[in-house]
Amino acid sequence: MAETWSSSSVDAHLDWVPGSGRQALADAIRAAIRDGRWQPDAVVPSTRALAADLGVARGTVTRVYADLAAEGYLRTSQGAPTRVATAGAAPQSAGPAYVRRPAARWTLMPGMPDPSLFPREQWLASTRRVLAHTPNDTFGYGEARGSVVLRTTLAAYLGRSRGVLADPARIVIVAGFSHAMVVLAQAFADLGMHELAFEDPSIDRFRGFAQAAGQRITGVPVDGDGLDVSALTSPAVVVTPAHQSPLGVTMAPARRTALARHGALVVEDDYDGEFRYDRHQVGALQALAPERVVYAGTASKSLSPSLRLGWLVLPRFLVDPVIAALERTGRHPAALDQLVLADLISSGAYDRQVRRCRLEYRARRDRLVAALPKRLVPQGISAGLQLFVPLSADEEAAVPAAAARHSLAIETLSPHAMSGAAPLPGLIIGYGAASKPSFGGALTALLGVLNDIGG
Ligand SMILES: Cc1ncc(COP(=O)(O)O)c(C=O)c1O
Repeated sequence: MAETWSSSSVDAHLDWVPGSGRQALADAIRAAIRDGRWQPDAVVPSTRALAADLGVARGTVTRVYADLAAEGYLRTSQGAPTRVATAGAAPQSAGPAYVRRPAARWTLMPGMPDPSLFPREQWLASTRRVLAHTPNDTFGYGEARGSVVLRTTLAAYLGRSRGVLADPARIVIVAGFSHAMVVLAQAFADLGMHELAFEDPSIDRFRGFAQAAGQRITGVPVDGDGLDVSALTSPAVVVTPAHQSPLGVTMAPARRTALARHGALVVEDDYDGEFRYDRHQVGALQALAPERVVYAGTASKSLSPSLRLGWLVLPRFLVDPVIAALERTGRHPAALDQLVLADLISSGAYDRQVRRCRLEYRARRDRLVAALPKRLVPQGISAGLQLFVPLSADEEAAVPAAAARHSLAIETLSPHAMSGAAPLPGLIIGYGAASKPSFGGALTALLGVLNDIGG
């Protein structure tokens, strides 16, 4: 039977750039074997499957496998699938003396898009167009607030797609939401605001950035309607109204109105607003109070977190303080990438990318929901790249060991709860991160984990 990636016992994700040649492909496989991603004795993808997935001639993969077998990395035998050599047979590498923990074979980590969906061809076409036409002054330091071309393009795009009230003068380009968090926390401190509220639960990493930038962090509970606005006492708050991270609830209309009228400065983290699967569109909260709400968007889900590109649409009084704080971070997204993103959006390729990803993630969401044991009721399934499954505290505590047994990378809720004890223990299941061919294997591993913990 022909081997496919999903039927292979190896997640064949490789750090390999198309067109970089046979030697580079061999190097990528050697690296995958050395650092344990392709584990000893595992069946490797068939030459046909790997060639099809990488878009190279089958003969290229056949020659690479033959070379690696000769070097002792792979084991081939007539009529049997090719395997990674067992530890004893693998060549001793002259690599570093430290032992790196092998990464999990499967991933359902939240917060990550499928890297194989990055629109390489379209990004290349946009890069060519930009390089052919951009003036030489693009290659200077550029404007601190970001390219006017991107800001103008984003103003139109965000108005059309998310209902944001934007104009280029109130947009600032940042290196993703993580950078935005540092910049905003510093700008708020400059304005005399030293306390910042977050949803409880919320992603601990972002709270850490704000704290490191001098903010005292408080928590506001989240229920089935989103943030409990009546419990908000801090002068500023970070929220995820369209798809609460990590519980997945959508903020109810009455709560949105209450928050817009509350008087606190609001940071609206619209991290996956483009990925909505039901008919019910949820526009940006920012439109209700553009002088109180900072709208924050990112290219990390629709394109790639590696770009480190994000944008803020600011109340006017915050524009100068935010630019000043941003300059102090000494960090700006590359001007060329900003222009390429602008071209991608204005050419229509970005919309097509979002539609393509939406279809793919929606199909994965459906597979995941259908595969879950009936007693588990997933939440937050109408949007985004992740959903939440409540568990008992005992089940959640058993997850790390079970996940290690099934070589699955996955997250539990507790670390994101601010009280320390999760009000609602469970699993945050990301269905974006796996490459397309390995999603089936990741689901099988998940079912193994759920079975082990009694789910
Ligand atoms: C809640 C939330 N906001 C924003 C982001 C995006 O962060 P960045 O733009 O720094 O990649 C993520 C990514 O995981 C996220 O989970």
